[in-house]
Parts: sequence; structure tokens; C-alpha cells
Amino acid sequence: MTDQVLQDQIAYYRARAGEYDEWFYRVGRYDWGAERNAQWFAEAETVFNALRAVGKVGTALELAAGTGNFTKELTSIADHVVSLDASPEVLEINRDKVKSANVEYRQADLFNWQPDAEYDLVFMSFWLSHVPPEKLDGFLDTVRKATKVGGRVFMVDSLRDKTRTSSASNHADYDPESIYHTRKLNDGQEFTIVKMFYDESLVATLAKHGFKAEYHTSGEYFWWASGTAE
Ligand SMILES: C[S@@+](CC[C@H](N)C(=O)[O-])C[C@H]1O[C@@H](n2cnc3c(N)ncnc32)[C@H](O)[C@@H]1O
Repeated sequence: MTDQVLQDQIAYYRARAGEYDEWFYRVGRYDWGAERNAQWFAEAETVFNALRAVGKVGTALELAAGTGNFTKELTSIADHVVSLDASPEVLEINRDKVKSANVEYRQADLFNWQPDAEYDLVFMSFWLSHVPPEKLDGFLDTVRKATKVGGRVFMVDSLRDKTRTSSASNHADYDPESIYHTRKLNDGQEFTIVKMFYDESLVATLAKHGFKAEYHTSGEYFWWASGTAE
């Protein structure tokens, strides 16, 4: 089933490209009221600050870059950014939003991809949660290959929020027994995707793959892990 879901996951994000930012900017089905939205944005700022704290790097690789909400930040810390995603639609939105000559965009399916270089920073936002458990080790090996010794890795993703306000109001609650989640578009189309929630045990998993990392949470909505390749 998982291989079919991974194809559905690509189809979902391609179809969702034009409405994707409603999630990050808390619009429409993702607008949970002023108080919740303010908390979301405050926590997002905490994560942006943690990323800025990585400091200046030469090259950065962004995996599953999406519509560019973090690509913009990466351009402020890296001289050159390579941003990959399976969806040409989101890459087009990213390019229009970020408008930076220092970003190189590449279309790639991360489950059939190998790095062509070692980077000073490998970054991913809201991507690790879409990697199914049986592909996690292989994926992290690939991430390690893409990172220079002494280079940095930074990942941010979703916490299983207690208020269930990180997702759309018409999405079902996450089933703790399942790695799958049904997502809807504004027009009602439904897709099945993988959604995993990582806790601090990720630090040990990253260590197994050659990264010395720390795990942090912003409160309700986000976790991030920041580390160095050994
Ligand atoms: C939740 S979004 C995260 C986007 C962005 N990083 C952000 O923070 O908003 C997941 C992204 O993964 C991309 N994606 C899905 N399956 C993929 C695959 N197999 N290979 C590469 N990208 C994929 C989608 O197109 C989408 O842009």
C-alpha cells in the first residue's frame, strides 16, 4: 500500500500547490481564530530564529522545498541554495515568491534520488513526517551522504498538537495507530498521505546515521532537530 500512497502524496501536493499556503498562513479551513493563529505564528518565528542561529553557510540543500516559506530564510544564511521537490507546481510558486538568483530549483522524487554533492547544510521542513518508517533509514543515509563532515542538518516538522488545530477543520483527527492520513482539497478531492510524528527518540535515530543532533519543540505545533554530521 505504501508505494501507492507515496504516489498519492505527490499527486496531493501537486494538486494542492495553489492552496498550500493557506495552511502555513492560517487561511480558510486552517484559520482557527486569532489566539490559535497568533500562537502558530509565534512558534513559527521560534523555528525561524533557530534556523537563523545556524549562521552563515556556503551551500544549502533544501529537500521537499514546497512553496518557499523556508527557502526565503535559507537565502539569508546560504550563498547558494539547491531546492528540490517532486512537484513542478510548487517549485514555480517558490520561484515567484523567493525571487532569488541564488536558488537553483530541481524536480526530484526523493525516494528515487541520490545527492550529487556534499552540502554545508541540509534542510527539510515538514518533509520527514511524510517518509514512511520502512524508508526512514535509507532516507537518512542519503541525507548523510548529502552533508559534508562538520556540515549541518536542520529539520522541522509537526508535533501531534493537542488542540488538533494544525490541520484543516474538515480533516479527521490523526489515528494514533495509523501512519496514514486522509487529506482534502478545497474542492473536496481526497488523497491519502503518510504522516509521522517524531519525538526526541529521533536524536538516537540521527546518531545511527552519523548526525549529532538536538531535538527541540516550540510548544504546541512544531519540533525541530538541528545537528552536525560527524
Ligand atoms: C508538507 S509539504 C512541505 C513543503 C515545504 N518544505 C514547507 O515547509 O512548506 C511537502 C512537500 O513534499 C513534496 N513531495 C511529496 N512527495 C515527494 C517526493 N516523493 N519527492 C520530493 N518531494 C515530494 C510536496 O510536493 C510538498 O512540496
